[in-house]
Amino acid sequence: MAVEDHGDKVIVTLDNDSTTSVTVLKYGATVISWKHKGNEQLWVSEAAKLDGSKPVRGGIPLVFPNFGKTKEESHETFALPQHGFARNSTWDFLGQTTASPLTIQFGLSPEQANPEVYKLWKSKSGGDENPDFTLIYSISLLEDRIITKIEVENPGKEAFEFNWLFHTYFRVSDVEDVVVTNLTNEQCYDQLLKTWYTEKSPMVNFTEEFDRIYKNIHPEKLLQIVKFGKVQQNIQRHNLPDAVVWNPWIEKSGSMADFEPKKGYLDMLCIEAGHVTDYVTLKPSETWTGSQEVFLGGEIKVQSDIYS
Ligand code: BG6
Repeated sequence: MAVEDHGDKVIVTLDNDSTTSVTVLKYGATVISWKHKGNEQLWVSEAAKLDGSKPVRGGIPLVFPNFGKTKEESHETFALPQHGFARNSTWDFLGQTTASPLTIQFGLSPEQANPEVYKLWKSKSGGDENPDFTLIYSISLLEDRIITKIEVENPGKEAFEFNWLFHTYFRVSDVEDVVVTNLTNEQCYDQLLKTWYTEKSPMVNFTEEFDRIYKNIHPEKLLQIVKFGKVQQNIQRHNLPDAVVWNPWIEKSGSMADFEPKKGYLDMLCIEAGHVTDYVTLKPSETWTGSQEVFLGGEIKVQSDIYS
């Protein structure tokens, strides 16, 4: 069977290739495995909590309605914890929606949202009610790719503002041997230096802790993880202008109890497609959609300067 509901998770397998599959935990609607022809493409910590007690350290956690910790005290998401509540709420499994491509859907609205965290999201008018929202998350598994698509709807009477991010942990070996293409000349905020600058590396590489938010990257630009001249994974973004690139390296991963093995930072790289450098405003009855397409292999595409 192509789509199996195991209670706490859903496993999707291609009909014609049982070695290609996706596993999604209902908690956080977190994709915790994507195997392509038996090869795992995502990194999940050996100490990740998969029992709903903590967001999953690895896979594809979903970040909504705030990225990081909101700094502006007046913003409605100020009281929310880092990365919001989507990744620590148990989503409804809505079932299979199409056979080709093989697609399943999950849904989250105030009824399913983790009440302890959701109640911290204030409405714009400052009233007692929390913002009303519906999230529909579609995951499609194809022979050489997965597509993750989010639709955010506002069924309420008031506008709300949000960030969205697919916090994808890619499995790489070894992160010191990979580079990421097509970020040259992009504006970035370095979360470690706490400053904005223009990325000047012809290809970004990793030799220490790395935490940068690239802003408003041209939509045509493909982000590629390349090892020794061979493309491993490609990330194509749709309506997701920003990308966060993160590796915690030795000290930071050492301080995270759910990060194992401690040398695991060498096996992972987060490339996170999203809308995070400002908020999307969604008025009543409006819908916003963003998606990422992750596919394997192919040619290196040098697009660094062609749109400037
Ligand atoms: C990244 C941020 O998106 O997420 C980092 O840029 C952060 O600053 C990382 O450390 C992990 O966050 P968390 O909440 O899962 O530990």
